[in-house]
Amino acid sequence: MKSGELKMRWARQYMPVLAEIRRTFQEERPLSGLTVGMALHVEAKTAVLAETLAAAGAEVHITGCNPLSTQDDVAEALGMVPGVTCYAKRGVGVEEYYAAIDRVLDAAPSITIDDGMDLIHRLHTTRRELLDSVIGGCEETTTGIHRLRAMTKEGELRFPVIAVNDTPMKRFFDNVHGTGESALTAVMATTNALIAGKQIVVAGYGYCGNGLAKKAHGLGARVIVTEVDARRALQAHMDGYEVMGMDEAAARGDLFVTTTGNTSVISGRHFPKMKHGAILANAGHFNVEIDIDWLENHTEATEDRDGIRTYCIGGKALHVLAEGRLVNLATPKGMGHPIEVMDLSFALQALCTAHIARHGSELEGGVYEVPAAIDEQVANLKLGSLGITIDTLTEEQVRYMSSWDIGT
Ligand code: NAI
Repeated sequence: MKSGELKMRWARQYMPVLAEIRRTFQEERPLSGLTVGMALHVEAKTAVLAETLAAAGAEVHITGCNPLSTQDDVAEALGMVPGVTCYAKRGVGVEEYYAAIDRVLDAAPSITIDDGMDLIHRLHTTRRELLDSVIGGCEETTTGIHRLRAMTKEGELRFPVIAVNDTPMKRFFDNVHGTGESALTAVMATTNALIAGKQIVVAGYGYCGNGLAKKAHGLGARVIVTEVDARRALQAHMDGYEVMGMDEAAARGDLFVTTTGNTSVISGRHFPKMKHGAILANAGHFNVEIDIDWLENHTEATEDRDGIRTYCIGGKALHVLAEGRLVNLATPKGMGHPIEVMDLSFALQALCTAHIARHGSELEGGVYEVPAAIDEQVANLKLGSLGITIDTLTEEQVRYMSSWDIGT
């Protein structure tokens, strides 16, 4: 067996929820006759999702959603799965990246699955002639949903898209535990540096930042959080972290990880204040959180270690991982989120894709929540796979919870 197939086999054994859904899909074929276009990080877990959609009867066309996150051996293995065509390649330039997005769209997908909204953006700009053939889509990440909501506000979004990211079964696990663990794993594997005792600066205390801070603290790091939202800043303070602005934190950090989904969070005014040897990584979706252009234009750069670019500034060395692209996937050893977490996220994607196939044409253009029944189904399947049983409400409790006149 080749390495890509071995990686897929490895992933499959820790994805019991998706396996259960695949069994049902094989019988019911809910995507029969439909073409699904996907732009996701092409690695083993994504490959298991793609084969699950193919097992449901779809013709799947897939490419990456980041120029550095594709694993070529998995892309090759995925290309061998019946019903799947894969265009992803690691280390492509911007032009080649969008050419692959266009090849997915050439298949005229009826359903899109995005991680960052690149397929949908292309469909609404240079490929508008294909819009009428799309029933709907699913979006995997926070940044993609920000972009979709901005489109909806301007009346631009032409079909319904399910915000998979925003449902509890996704963001409570994938964003918190997945990003928390995998971003730190990638930093450690790329640098060989110790986390214990380090001063880590986490920019953004949303779902991802919260998980990252918690895991770093668990490994013995001292954590500083930077925020722009007063409520989230206060939450970080009460969770036990130091909170301050990046201007102050810049001089304190040994390791910086951005998780804001925003731009220029660490910029030209911060770099000169940093310590010699500071490590900078981004876990947010796009490579705009750390101002790499400023570093490229104002400093000397060297590549001393795989996946690390070192910038020399005022005699100090600053080390940026994976060109400021999302560290858990774009570093050479980045494997993305742990498998069990993606089992949940991709179970949601699979069920939401089937939901769009059934109901997409009844819905207007806009962003939709994951149906509560799907969220609960994934939770129940996961609990079942773990052999965990929980209590159920008694009749008395149901009555109590739905009444307004029962007091003390
Ligand atoms: P979120 O919206 O829950 O959190 C973002 C936080 O950043 C908010 O609290 C916001 O107030 C804060 N923020 C915004 N601008 C800031 C600034 N200039 N300085 C400091 N804080 C700022 O979003 P979530 O779910 O935590 O996602 C964050 C990013 O991570 C998104 O780009 C998302 O797409 C990406 N993501 C990455 C994953 C990965 O595998 N690395 C997985 C899941 C999400």
